[in-house]
Amino acid sequence: MSVDESATDPAAHYDKVTDAWGYLLGDNLHYGYFDRGDESLEEATERLTRRMAELAEPAPDHLVLDVGCGTGQPARCLAEWFGCRVTGISPSQVCIDRARKTSVGSPLESLVHFEIGDAMAMPYADASYDRVWVMESSHLMPDKSRLMGESARLLKPGGRLVLCDVMLKKKMELMEVIRHRDAFLLLHDVFGRARMETLAFYASEAEANGLTVQLSEDITTATRPTFDRWRRNAEANREEILTHLDEADLDKFFASCEVLEGFWDGGVLGYGLLSAGR
Ligand SMILES: C[S@@+](CC[C@H](N)C(=O)[O-])C[C@H]1O[C@@H](n2cnc3c(N)ncnc32)[C@H](O)[C@@H]1O
Repeated sequence: MSVDESATDPAAHYDKVTDAWGYLLGDNLHYGYFDRGDESLEEATERLTRRMAELAEPAPDHLVLDVGCGTGQPARCLAEWFGCRVTGISPSQVCIDRARKTSVGSPLESLVHFEIGDAMAMPYADASYDRVWVMESSHLMPDKSRLMGESARLLKPGGRLVLCDVMLKKKMELMEVIRHRDAFLLLHDVFGRARMETLAFYASEAEANGLTVQLSEDITTATRPTFDRWRRNAEANREEILTHLDEADLDKFFASCEVLEGFWDGGVLGYGLLSAGR
């Protein structure tokens, strides 16, 4: 199986997929959190933002850094729900343009700000944020230790990091990586170059950087219905999606939903939620 080189660079990958993602995933470019299982994807993705927000507890005078902000929906939710100011960063120009366009002229315009940025080199001063919010972007970052170190550096004393993402359920032996090689190559083409770690790894990196873990929770089961909703969106919005992706890309998207379901059920991959204070 060959690899789609455009998926290797996170900026290029999101420049390519963001418009199609809107039809497949919705405004929130992340998984859903399903309390019951019969919720719509919209309800469930907002619920995941709520779960993160319950851990972040932003106050109206807080500055929040949204690292890997997508098209800005979680940032807008935080600003609307809590009245806090949010700066969102992403290396993708398409994400940032879309995030800005949706916010301009809205009542939240003065609270949200979006700029091109890379979590691996953040130009902000030490202790400049009350909250660092990392929602489903860390798997795309090559150096998680750097992400956690930078997050700790940017937090004010008393500040908090909240993070959720796709994670390894357990450390993977080389033979297992080799066994799943084609599946991982498919996920690479569809979702971009990723390096997954375990929830325990994120927690230990947080602690190693002077943060105190407040919650570390495996939410794999609550996120499982996401794939069914993505598939339904792919079927319902096929024509619109094909104006942004080609047939082969869409076929790969369907195949990747099956791969992910197998990984979820087989204990290979899952989803984790972490909160840590400084
Ligand atoms: C799955 S989307 C999640 C978007 C958003 N957090 C949400 O929940 O709607 C991943 C985001 O991470 C961004 N990203 C990828 N690599 C990054 C990096 N090194 N630094 C900052 N953001 C990055 C992508 O451009 C994209 O916006």
